[in-house]
Amino acid sequence: MEIIRIPKVMQDTVGGLLIRGRTIGFVPTMGALHEGHLSLVRRSREENEKTVVSIFVNPLQFGPSEDFARYPRDIEGDVEKLEAERVDILFMPEASLMYPVGFSTRVEVGTISETMCGACRPGHFAGVATVVAKLFHIVKPTRAYFGQKDFQQAVVIRRMVKDLNMDVEIVVCPTVREKDGLAMSSRNMYLSGEQRPAAAVLFRSLKGTAESLASGIIQIGEVRHVLRQKILSEPAVSSVDYAGAYDPETLEELAEPKGEILLACAVWIGSTRLIDNILINIKKER
Ligand code: PAJ
Repeated sequence: MEIIRIPKVMQDTVGGLLIRGRTIGFVPTMGALHEGHLSLVRRSREENEKTVVSIFVNPLQFGPSEDFARYPRDIEGDVEKLEAERVDILFMPEASLMYPVGFSTRVEVGTISETMCGACRPGHFAGVATVVAKLFHIVKPTRAYFGQKDFQQAVVIRRMVKDLNMDVEIVVCPTVREKDGLAMSSRNMYLSGEQRPAAAVLFRSLKGTAESLASGIIQIGEVRHVLRQKILSEPAVSSVDYAGAYDPETLEELAEPKGEILLACAVWIGSTRLIDNILINIKKER
């Protein structure tokens, strides 16, 4: 696996691959890699001739009181995992090369960036869209792979790609979970021995609410309250940023039932913020 740290070198390297007609699959990450990330890498390897993974803990997407400084970093472990997956190129730039002095452009993706996580983390999705736009210009992928776990992020990226005529196919892959249903996340490392089993409450509550909705026990207007109550029944949960039923395209909270429904939540367990979601099709499930 080739490791590249300089954006211009990365651009020249993929330039050479593209001249030779190679398809390039790209998996952007912030490292501390787990099976969720590796599922994207495997999908990219299946669908493209070359796979590029980036590891960059992007300061622009963290708020001033968020966990940028303590975000888990494990470069040695990550390199080992990516070598084992036979990744072709690891792009690992320094922040000073991504954001040199004078950097001042932002990619803002409008209303879909302002609900759900966007409402609780102002500026977060502008930070994500800006870095992903930069990475797309540097890596020039044929396809880029994102996880459903960060549903809103994938919607924001799709919107950006469409709005800015970026020539890349966005592929969204299913959420990889632990045995008890907890969505894999680099942030799960923050959880203490007691908090870790409690964190399964997110998925359990989403599933339980989906079942009640599908069987007609609750109506769409009750989802917000029911889901929140289920989550708060776990004593380790300190607070709920949001929980509800959303339109998977517009990300607006749903007042009326629709074919496909996104159930999503963001929850604090101590000082760790976890997110999860499931997509349900009520008509199908009934
Ligand atoms: P990060 O949190 O490292 O996630 C990188 C990619 O892995 C994202 O597309 C995310 O949705 C996916 N992913 C994470 N956990 C997953 C799981 N359990 N199952 C499936 N996919 C999973 O998301 C980011 O980094 C950053 O915002 C980034 C896009 C790299 C921009 O900085």
